[in-house]
Amino acid sequence: MTNGMTRNCGNFLSFAAALMVVCSLWGKTPSGQIARTKDSEITAVSGESWIRHIGKPFSETSMGKSSSSLGPAPGATTSWQLQLSPGYSSQLVTLHGSDLYRLSCRGCHGPLGKGAPPEINAIPGPVQATSVATTMERMKKAGREMGRADATALAKESRASLIQRLHSGGEHMLPPTLSEPEIHSLVPYLEQLSDVAGAQKKQVAVNESAARVGEHIVKSTCHVCHSAAGPNPTPQQISEGAIPPLSSLPKRLNMPDFVRKVTNGAPIIMGTPATSYRGRMPVFGYLSQDEAAAVYLYLVLYPPRS
Ligand code: HEC
Ligand code: HEC
Repeated sequence: MTNGMTRNCGNFLSFAAALMVVCSLWGKTPSGQIARTKDSEITAVSGESWIRHIGKPFSETSMGKSSSSLGPAPGATTSWQLQLSPGYSSQLVTLHGSDLYRLSCRGCHGPLGKGAPPEINAIPGPVQATSVATTMERMKKAGREMGRADATALAKESRASLIQRLHSGGEHMLPPTLSEPEIHSLVPYLEQLSDVAGAQKKQVAVNESAARVGEHIVKSTCHVCHSAAGPNPTPQQISEGAIPPLSSLPKRLNMPDFVRKVTNGAPIIMGTPATSYRGRMPVFGYLSQDEAAAVYLYLVLYPPRS
């Protein structure tokens, strides 16, 4: 797999290497290899959170149940430091399909696309169904050998429904925020994740602004639990289970504390009298500090709407 690629902004060296790739490809191939999403496509996040939308209490969702990824307890000694790449907010970031997956899908479907059935379906099955070869192989195994023409028709149908989902989401899946070039980059990675033959050679990258990176993360991960807009809850309301809306987050925390909460975890003030507690929000250790800062930037530049 591409573990080396999955955190391409994780440290400065690989970030610099990614930038060099951007620079070398940018000038040469105006319409080829690397496409850039226009900032005009970025929109503010709006509406209620996914868990409200599906009517589940936080504690009954797969994310709410995974206590393993909680942040440090209050008073725990941690040596956390803010370390952002210079120019993280103004330079383009190169995202591979694996990064788009991480930013847009991983929050719900997990690192390998297995999901959390029955709540969240697994990805590999429906992706394998888009491959003619895999479809023929599967049918053969099931004792129902199928001609290439029929398998092609079936695979085509499966591909159409996958692409449809990448544009508009599903009944219980938030609509992803993906442009055509992003879909062209993500699909080969979904195939790689699903062990479809030849997928590795088809990987393509896209260039994105920090605000776009923030948009992907907010709309597909933070919006799972945080509604877009609303009043900033009091410490008492937080202790009663309120989750602060996305619009309140840049007011509640400054950028370094925000980055820390997301990538490392940090206690939160709640209750009466106001006390520091560990909190229930999972830590997103697979997001880099640059990416968490991009989330902050996006929320400030594109204020959430109700
Ligand atoms: C907010 C959580 C959430 C996010 C984010 C999310 N999904 Fe889903 N996904 C679901 C749920 C829930 C289902 C099953 C119910 C449904 O279809 O709505 C699902 C189903 C699917 C299926 C269909 C599985 C089947 O059995 O047919 C595929 C494929 C899929 N997701 C791919 C993706 C990809 C690719 C991304 C990233 C672009 C993504 N999902 C992001 C929650 C999510
Ligand atoms: C699984 C649910 C869940 C998801 C997903 C989630 N959060 Fe939270 N978040 C919470 C809860 C619950 C709180 C209330 C404080 C606590 O329990 O830690 C919270 C609080 C916060 C706070 C306020 C901390 C404070 O001290 O005031 C920030 C900032 C925050 N979240 C940012 C984010 C960002 C950014 C994302 C997306 C990367 C995100 N959250 C995704 C559940 C979630």
